[in-house]
Amino acid sequence: MSELQDLTTLVRAATPLLVIETVDEQRVIECFRHVISQALHPLWRWTLTDGLNRLDFAQREGDVAPDATATLDAIRAQGERGIYLMFDFHGLLRYAMSLRQLREIVQRQRSAAHTIVLVGARVELPDELEALALRVPLSLPDLKELAGILRAEAVAWQREQNRKVEVDNDAARTIVRNLLGLSAPDARRIVRKLIYNDGALGPQDLPELMQSKFDLLNRSGLLHYEYATASFADIAGVSRVREWVQRRRAVFLAATPDPALDPPRGVLLLGVQGCGKSLAAKAIAGGFGVPLVRLDFGTLYNKYQGETEKNLREALASTELLSPCVLWIDEIEKGLAGGGDDGGVSRRVLGYLLTWMAERKAKVFVVATANAVHELPAELLRKGRFDEIFFVDLPAATVREQIFAMHLARRQLDPASFELPALAAASDGFSGAEIEQTIVSALYDAAGNGTPPDQPVLLHALRQTRPLSVLMREQVNALRAWAQGRCVAAD
Ligand SMILES: Nc1ncnc2c1ncn2[C@@H]1O[C@H](COP(=O)(O)OP(=O)(O)OP(=O)(O)O)[C@@H](O)[C@H]1O
Ligand SMILES: [Mg+2]
Repeated sequence: MSELQDLTTLVRAATPLLVIETVDEQRVIECFRHVISQALHPLWRWTLTDGLNRLDFAQREGDVAPDATATLDAIRAQGERGIYLMFDFHGLLRYAMSLRQLREIVQRQRSAAHTIVLVGARVELPDELEALALRVPLSLPDLKELAGILRAEAVAWQREQNRKVEVDNDAARTIVRNLLGLSAPDARRIVRKLIYNDGALGPQDLPELMQSKFDLLNRSGLLHYEYATASFADIAGVSRVREWVQRRRAVFLAATPDPALDPPRGVLLLGVQGCGKSLAAKAIAGGFGVPLVRLDFGTLYNKYQGETEKNLREALASTELLSPCVLWIDEIEKGLAGGGDDGGVSRRVLGYLLTWMAERKAKVFVVATANAVHELPAELLRKGRFDEIFFVDLPAATVREQIFAMHLARRQLDPASFELPALAAASDGFSGAEIEQTIVSALYDAAGNGTPPDQPVLLHALRQTRPLSVLMREQVNALRAWAQGRCVAAD
């Protein structure tokens, strides 16, 4: 752990105030035990329940009441310079008295050169203290340490159950790799659950592992996780997208990618409503064989006013820990359009997103989908942002035949008993979603009339439907015209 070196240096330099954001208190204590083995200072811990206790070799119960004023008085009265790990103390700094006392210690007014370490899951400080604090990130366990956790949990189970855990070595390695990014207690909890499920560690554990990891990482609630994605077999008419993904799959997943080939980073799917953009996004994840994580832009703005950017930052960082994965940003225009009345938030969100897309190192493939191109900021469309911009158009006649066949079969009807070319001809201008809806309503009609759901019923339903491309002809034509020459046709 290279942070030990850093912490030792900070303590040697008598840094007055450190902040460590973590729930892994044990890890903090272990780190500082190492630190004091090199920089010999008394090490103290404070909690609201136990008050001050000395942790180094001169173990001693504190004899001060745990309340903030008494504690800070006692620290100041300590003539010998010490390190004070204060767990969840920051909440007490609301009180003017405690805040003042701590500032005086930190500024060395009538106080020895102590190092105060504020530890908590989220440590928010009043401005006057934040200015004096140094925030140090606590690194997370590495592969070796995680493998150790897995072994220790397997041994513990074996001892308890008197039988060996069945371990599939390949899967165990994948599990360890996927625990990266989690704290030691979280990793331990997950591994224990996987073992207790069935006394084995194997490939069958991977979906649950990814789900548990996702739940831990998605604190902001902005991400939605889908382990079961779609496949290109579920969607007609995006042959170019399918080939594009197939050609890049190996490079995307490679542990050490070919330096001659830039790793794939993302695509924008632009197109007419209901023509399968969302479905294509899922199929891309399926095509790469990785989980799909959807970023919910709506929630980003609504739920956390004032914390928008922070939450976006956290959410994007989480996706990197879930890599390899596809990050799907659905209806991206809705999240980035923002008029002039949002205090510049949507501009900053766009800026952050673009920077992140350009700089991210992890295998996170971005799929953004949009229907309204004039609402998209020009920066997003500039060459180099996405590897490719695909246009998903209204399906051609042959594609419509396939869509009919697919959705009839999905409803236990035999496509061979329908005349598909006639259905395709009658559905000119229909989107895939509209074809699907027409089949659904034809089935209801047939059931209601007590007749079989056959060709005439379908044709009748098609004649009853006015597709969006007719109702909104101008918009659809404008979009198609815009896409000409700017985008690659998806099919
Ligand atoms: N090309 C297609 N092949 C098969 N099914 C399709 C196709 N296009 C649309 N569908 C059907 O219509 C449903 C809706 O499509 P989807 O949500 O993917 O469209 P979209 O382009 O994302 O629409 P929107 O712009 O409204 O978000 C799909 O779940 C699928 O059942
Ligand atoms: Mg959609």
